[in-house]
Amino acid sequence: MGDMIITKNLSLKLAKHQILDNITFKVQRGEIFGMLGPSGAGKTTLIKILTGQMQQDSGYAELLGRDTKKLTALEHKQIGTMMESFGLYDRLSVYDNLCFYAEIYHVPRNSVDHILKRIHLYENRRTAVSKLSKGMKSRLSLARALMNHAKILFLDEPTSGLDPVTTREIHCILAEQREKGTTIFLTTHNMYEAEYLCDHVALLNKGSIVEYGVPMNICKKYDHLNKLRITLKNGEMTILENSAASALLVKEYLEENRIEAIHSTEPTLENVFIKLTGKELGGYE
Ligand SMILES: Nc1ncnc2c1ncn2[C@@H]1O[C@H](COP(=O)(O)OP(=O)(O)OP(=O)(O)O)[C@@H](O)[C@H]1O
Ligand SMILES: [Mg+2]
Repeated sequence: MGDMIITKNLSLKLAKHQILDNITFKVQRGEIFGMLGPSGAGKTTLIKILTGQMQQDSGYAELLGRDTKKLTALEHKQIGTMMESFGLYDRLSVYDNLCFYAEIYHVPRNSVDHILKRIHLYENRRTAVSKLSKGMKSRLSLARALMNHAKILFLDEPTSGLDPVTTREIHCILAEQREKGTTIFLTTHNMYEAEYLCDHVALLNKGSIVEYGVPMNICKKYDHLNKLRITLKNGEMTILENSAASALLVKEYLEENRIEAIHSTEPTLENVFIKLTGKELGGYE
């Protein structure tokens, strides 16, 4: 089975508002799929439908080969989730939180120590969750999602508001998971994260998917200029056609060792999405 998630014409209205509108996409086994979109686009709602916490009005959604309206305990055991609220017990210690989930998922207790070391929280294992920093809580919440060796992880903004070191650490853990064959569905406002991590991304805007593809291909698609921007060591900048016609001049510059930098003119993913949604991904109007 290649497709871990399938949705077809999925729609949902809440309080007379169209929250999701005709959503169709697939997520393949072993890929990191990024659902991007401004605040209020419907990303969290979509995760809730895919994980059986909410139901759509019309259309179809399938997870691990089963209609998401009919997920069984077996499928639930194969899902790991990290939601915005973290899903942790504030008064319990770091260690006890994971032991609690280990029990639910019938995972041996010694794997708790292993995972705590992996997320660098072993030293803090006796600390109550209420006393953890946001970055620590995020790591613990990710550890909880990893506890049951899920086939598919749903991560709702896993690095939101975290420092660059913690963000990188989380990226490493996600890349490791992909290596192991885990499928990851994540939402993010971080374009660097999407370009760096995701095999495919979809942009959700006001409940509709307005773009889908491999991040680099999306950027190329919107490169209407298709030029090369060359900065020379003397500070001059020159713009050339990105074609064979420019080859001689570029060769000359290279031979004369005059080039400081060469860039293509394709927009960043962030610029593409601002253009398509008219909004910053952080949700600013
Ligand atoms: N229970 C509900 N009843 C009515 N409207 C809701 C409900 N839950 C969510 N919404 C609305 O659905 C829309 C999508 O919300 P959702 O939380 O899915 O967005 P999001 O893309 O995850 O945003 P963010 O990036 O801020 O997390 C919003 O307009 C929100 O107000
Ligand atoms: Mg959300």
